[in-house]
Amino acid sequence: NFRGATFEQSAPSIHQCPPENGLEVAFAGRSNAGKSSAINTLTDNSKLARTSKTPGRTQLINFFSVGEGQRLVDLPGYGYAKVARAMKEEWQRNLSEYLQERDCLQGLVLLMDIRHPMQEFDSMMINWAVEVEMPVHILLTKADKLKRGPANSTLLAVRKQMQAAGVSDLVTAQCFSSLKRTGVDDLKRKLTEWLTP
Ligand code: GTP
Ligand code: MG
Repeated sequence: NFRGATFEQSAPSIHQCPPENGLEVAFAGRSNAGKSSAINTLTDNSKLARTSKTPGRTQLINFFSVGEGQRLVDLPGYGYAKVARAMKEEWQRNLSEYLQERDCLQGLVLLMDIRHPMQEFDSMMINWAVEVEMPVHILLTKADKLKRGPANSTLLAVRKQMQAAGVSDLVTAQCFSSLKRTGVDDLKRKLTEWLTP
């Protein structure tokens, strides 16, 4: 029941996350990719996760409850240029630890602006996830910014890249737009699959 989602808590780091009960799915991606917007679109609640034109808005790990023991997690965006190098490194460490150690994590939704897919940080996240056999679902966000043809070719190119890397059983992809609400049902299906015990 994504519509009934409620804010649960914020954590400044992986070490202060809620207890490992139930199941969760995390939303990751570069700053400004549209993570918080996607969570709001999914839950039909524009006020649930804070969105911003300024990259780096979400600096805490935010937990949202979507049912008894079912959570969505809004991770801080990575690759935000204005953040000091030391802080970036700490984020990276936090993110990789979270992926490796969070036992209740069922899957990772990885958001990328459809106009700039598969940047360095995106590949790094995919590598970390694949290493621990964590399924990844790529959202090519802001699909409204491209015409249907170019949007589809980008999607096919990303899928091809995953096939070439031999990880297409673990890494799936779709187009998504919070603005036009495209791809919402596909995303809901994936999340339901992951969050069903
Ligand atoms: P951080 O918290 O900084 O990591 O960013 P975020 O990934 O949570 O991005 P956020 O959801 O705050 O969105 C960033 C900007 O992109 C905002 O100005 C949004 O309005 C815009 N945006 C998000 N989704 C879409 C979309 O589907 N289409 C368009 N055109 N703009 C979008
Ligand atoms: Mg955000």
